Amino acid sequence: MEYLPDHNCRYKDVGYWDERYKTEQSFEWFGDFSKFQHLLEQHVKKEDDILILGCGNSSMSSDMYDAGYLSITNIDYSSVCIDTMSARHLAKCPGMTWHQMDARKLSFPDASYDVVLEKGTLDAMLVEEKDPWNVSQDTACLIDQVLKEICRVLKPGGRFLSVTFAQPHFRKRLYARHDYGWSVRTCSYGDGFQYFLYVLTKGEKLSPEDAALERRLLEEAQALPTEVRTQESDTEAFLDSIDL
Ligand SMILES: C[S@@+](CC[C@H](N)C(=O)[O-])C[C@H]1O[C@@H](n2cnc3c(N)ncnc32)[C@H](O)[C@@H]1O
Repeated sequence: MEYLPDHNCRYKDVGYWDERYKTEQSFEWFGDFSKFQHLLEQHVKKEDDILILGCGNSSMSSDMYDAGYLSITNIDYSSVCIDTMSARHLAKCPGMTWHQMDARKLSFPDASYDVVLEKGTLDAMLVEEKDPWNVSQDTACLIDQVLKEICRVLKPGGRFLSVTFAQPHFRKRLYARHDYGWSVRTCSYGDGFQYFLYVLTKGEKLSPEDAALERRLLEEAQALPTEVRTQESDTEAFLDSIDL
């Protein structure tokens, strides 16, 4: 696969993931499906059309399929990953589809999914960030591109489910935006280390607290000098530290 022309290469690029998937059989970020199934079942119906972004070599898709979620589309921008996963699941999960695709430029029509689900994919995009309170302009744009695509492909009333280690005070800064046209709810799971499931429902309003957070962040951004804050690339340390 080639990079899209606008690829800015700041985060772990497709080359990194291709190399990893050439040797790694499977890896589960933030626990397997059984750990958050009870939460997901509250927000996803068996008959929903589901899009999984950055599926990786996780067993989440096939675990969901086994649990009765039969309409699942998987995308990842690593063709190595997609080739391996489609071959692995062809016989066992015939209804499930696999596509090499960039989450920033989904080739699906508007309003085509009831649910968009990601686990660790946005975290991978934020991996070079040193300060989660101040996400760099480039990464904020990258995340915004993906979130806009998610909004576009969700049906009215559709849900974006995001599984991450990022706590609400960090992640809500990215998700709680009036422009996306969704509400933000948070649940958590995990023993010892806590993970989070964010549920963003298209067509619902932000809570007063989330709307106030957005206003405050906008005011802070307007008060900043025009000079754009930049960050040097970090080492592998952050990725290693979330390799849980
Ligand atoms: C941290 S891994 C998570 C894998 C899997 N979701 C899991 O739970 O184990 C991030 C995945 O996102 C994919 N990815 C990163 N950026 C992407 C993009 N722009 N479009 C599609 N997939 C992307 C990577 O190839 C990788 O498979």
